[in-house]
Amino acid sequence: HPPNFQVEESSSLRRANCRAKGAGPGFKVAILGAAGGIGQPLSMLMKMNPLVSVLHLYDVVNTPGVTADIGHMDTGAVVRGFLGQQQLEEALTGMDLVIIPAGVPRKPGMTRDDLFKINAGIVRTLCEGIVKSCPRAIVNLISNPVNSTVPIAAEVFKKAGTYDPRHLLGVTMLDVVRANTFVAEVLGIDPRQVDVPVVGGHAGVTILPLLSQVKPPSTFTPEETEYLTTRIQNGGTEVVEAKAGAGSATLSMAYAAVKFADACLRGLSGDDGVIECAFVSSQVTELPFFATKVRLGRNGAEEVFPLGPLNEYERAGLEKAKKELAGSIQKGVSFIRN
Ligand code: NAD
Ligand code: LMR
Repeated sequence: HPPNFQVEESSSLRRANCRAKGAGPGFKVAILGAAGGIGQPLSMLMKMNPLVSVLHLYDVVNTPGVTADIGHMDTGAVVRGFLGQQQLEEALTGMDLVIIPAGVPRKPGMTRDDLFKINAGIVRTLCEGIVKSCPRAIVNLISNPVNSTVPIAAEVFKKAGTYDPRHLLGVTMLDVVRANTFVAEVLGIDPRQVDVPVVGGHAGVTILPLLSQVKPPSTFTPEETEYLTTRIQNGGTEVVEAKAGAGSATLSMAYAAVKFADACLRGLSGDDGVIECAFVSSQVTELPFFATKVRLGRNGAEEVFPLGPLNEYERAGLEKAKKELAGSIQKGVSFIRN
């Protein structure tokens, strides 16, 4: 490391020890891919989260700079940086929550599945690290294609005998965040008042907003339903095209990831009634993984809620979603099994 990184690290360690003696409540959180487009704003926002006492920033490049920078913020969490695979185990030791935004993003013209080739191996390596260093941690998986990377992570954990399905959550929060924003626009109300359940998975037609279950209760014309569903399903592509080769959603994703991680931490700390959508091991449909609302508690996703009543448009959408999801899940499972 450059010398200033060493100084930063040792003073952080001293403060970490002080804090341990002070015994304030707080969770240990690692971000894998912390120097990336999502990783940097996500690290900054997690440093501002009062539920976090220790924040480990891991990447294969640039973590010394990001750690020095974020480490100067005068918030409670102690920040430590870890660079390169030889520091992965150390980065993960003792973590309560691991957030994974590591991997390549899309460019215009690509599907999320086009990222499988590179990101599948990255997710496998990182999950093998989790097996060794923090097998009980809650994992928030952001790396695409989420519909396949979550089954990959599950297979790695199963192989090692450490799999607890309640602990593995694919992050679909950005779909909910987008849905709330776009629906609020159509209804002409504040997005903070809107709650749209988004189920299925996280790619194209597998993203299924349930507009019939929007809160506050609302009705939409067939044209509004079609416009909203298509816009929510294509939200990622809208950003990829606007960025024109410079990557995909990073800032709204960091916001969504923190919203979701905060919900997980509130669940871990014993708060009642923490409910968010996530892509999890599920018996809601015949598929082994599916995104629906889940209740987050001390053990992660403690309860997976059923879909609730669907209208005809949503039932048709569900069939399309399941068909594509089945293939993506199988692709992830085969990557580890074969
Ligand atoms: P980015 O390229 O800006 O950053 C990725 C980071 O991962 C880089 O810093 C890179 O060094 C790091 N990395 C690569 N290999 C690694 C490894 N083996 N270990 C640790 N870190 C490694 O990309 P980004 O825009 O931050 O996107 C990251 C991922 O998140 C992409 O796969 C993207 O598709 C996905 N994403 C998911 C959602 C979602 O809703 N779930 C939303 C947006 C983006
Ligand atoms: C998103 O929904 O923004 C992400 O999955 C990134 C992408 O490739 O669209």
